[in-house]
Amino acid sequence: MSFGLGRGRALEPGLWGLEQSDLPPHDDGPLDPHTLFPTTKPSLELEIGSGKGTFLVQQASIQPDTNFLGIEWAGEFYRYAADRMRRHQLQNVRMLHGDATDFIRFWCADACLSVVHLYYSDPWPKKRHHKRRVLQSSSLDHLHRILKPEGQIHLVTDHFDLWAWYEALALEKQEIFAREEFRPPESADRGEMVGTNFERKYQAEERAVRAMTLRRRD
Ligand SMILES: C[S@@+](CC[C@H](N)C(=O)[O-])C[C@H]1O[C@@H](n2cnc3c(N)ncnc32)[C@H](O)[C@@H]1O
Repeated sequence: MSFGLGRGRALEPGLWGLEQSDLPPHDDGPLDPHTLFPTTKPSLELEIGSGKGTFLVQQASIQPDTNFLGIEWAGEFYRYAADRMRRHQLQNVRMLHGDATDFIRFWCADACLSVVHLYYSDPWPKKRHHKRRVLQSSSLDHLHRILKPEGQIHLVTDHFDLWAWYEALALEKQEIFAREEFRPPESADRGEMVGTNFERKYQAEERAVRAMTLRRRD
């Protein structure tokens, strides 16, 4: 199925797009995601489920000393986001096409990330699908491992049940993550929590948006 995101124009990820299948086999050892960028920067941030890449394009341009890696498993959205980054010629942002939960579990090296962003993640409302939610007890253990000490996870959702899920996990993991107030990124416009494409699309419905930050404890 095509969403027609290119509006008839071919989407060209170019050097901005990476396929998970092109990564070195994870049996060869952990991957330092800094190696996926032309230049190593003092910090690296990961966005899980980047959609059209709006947050990354906005934030990467005002935070040039940070590399940003977005992961998106929907092919057309991945291509749209990477094509957008290429057109902006942003050197500090790359898109990976694949499953973020596999990437953090199997590939990502220890203590390499400063921040993980998870904005408006799919809620998978049916109970039998809850195991498909990105944030799980086990994925939080991996996120703790791949974050630097004091590294942060930013969680934002407009889905009531998913928020309750996040709150329960924050409580379960309070020995390894401190729960803190979420602060909107510099790129957010006035009145926005983050300013992603999803957030702007549903802004008119005035849905309640909830957010928290989890900070790695050691
Ligand atoms: C509701 S959309 C939100 C997109 C974007 N964050 C925004 O706010 O505009 C959730 C996105 O996460 C992607 N996604 C969900 N689970 C994923 C996973 N395990 N790995 C990579 N992408 C995932 C979906 O394909 C979808 O594009």
